[in-house]
Amino acid sequence: MAQGNIKRKPLVVGNWKMNTTADEAIELARSITTDIGAIIETDIVICPPFVWLSPIASVITNTSIKLGAQNLHWEDKGAYTGEISARMLKDVGCEYVIIGHSERRQYFGETDQSVNQKLKKAIDAELTPIVCLGESLQDREANRTNALITNQFNNDFEGFTDFEKVIIAYEPIWAIGTGKTATAEQAQEVHGLLRELLRQKTDGYNEVRILYGGSVKPKNAADLIAQPDINGFLVGGASLKAKDFKAIIKAVSGKD
Ligand code: 13P
Repeated sequence: MAQGNIKRKPLVVGNWKMNTTADEAIELARSITTDIGAIIETDIVICPPFVWLSPIASVITNTSIKLGAQNLHWEDKGAYTGEISARMLKDVGCEYVIIGHSERRQYFGETDQSVNQKLKKAIDAELTPIVCLGESLQDREANRTNALITNQFNNDFEGFTDFEKVIIAYEPIWAIGTGKTATAEQAQEVHGLLRELLRQKTDGYNEVRILYGGSVKPKNAADLIAQPDINGFLVGGASLKAKDFKAIIKAVSGKD
């Protein structure tokens, strides 16, 4: 695919999941900010647990690192015990929010319909949604990957047109936390499919950033990012080690 003058700045997102104590979170954020000031070729986002968003917002003030949340609720407010609204996330300094992570789909009953509602709420609140999709090992082995991704994409983005405001993350479930990364070719195949699905929805399909997630490490980041439709990473385990997270950012920086 010709990339020529496409403006698609790479993005690396750290999803800390349900990890870190208060002290560990602050220490991790501080270590990430150290030496990272010079990197301007890549957008960087960290998504700590909700309870550390506020202290971490202070740690990353005046750095190029942005704050993201791992989930949100689709209503503005009300009797939804344990939930967090888009407005709350904005108030605490978030600019991004992960939506539809496979762990939320698998353990907390998240569906394509709830993803769709959350996506629209994030856009209303001017948060940038990072919408996750991906197939299970069973789906892959049964050659259902393309059908499943197409289905998720169509359902997650039903009635949606603001594609220039969205980030998509392809995370094959079998590669998450397992140490089994998709090969660069396997990942590119699905990213290429997502680019094609975007093309059917918007003229700006080439500008949408599509991230890969699933056992991204410093040693495989360069190979993956060299693929034409991989525009950055959603990193789990390696984002909890400042050294590894920064090494991934460095591997990505410099790509058009
Ligand atoms: P790992 O990088 O630990 O495989 O996690 C990927 C992920 O789920 C990021 O959201």
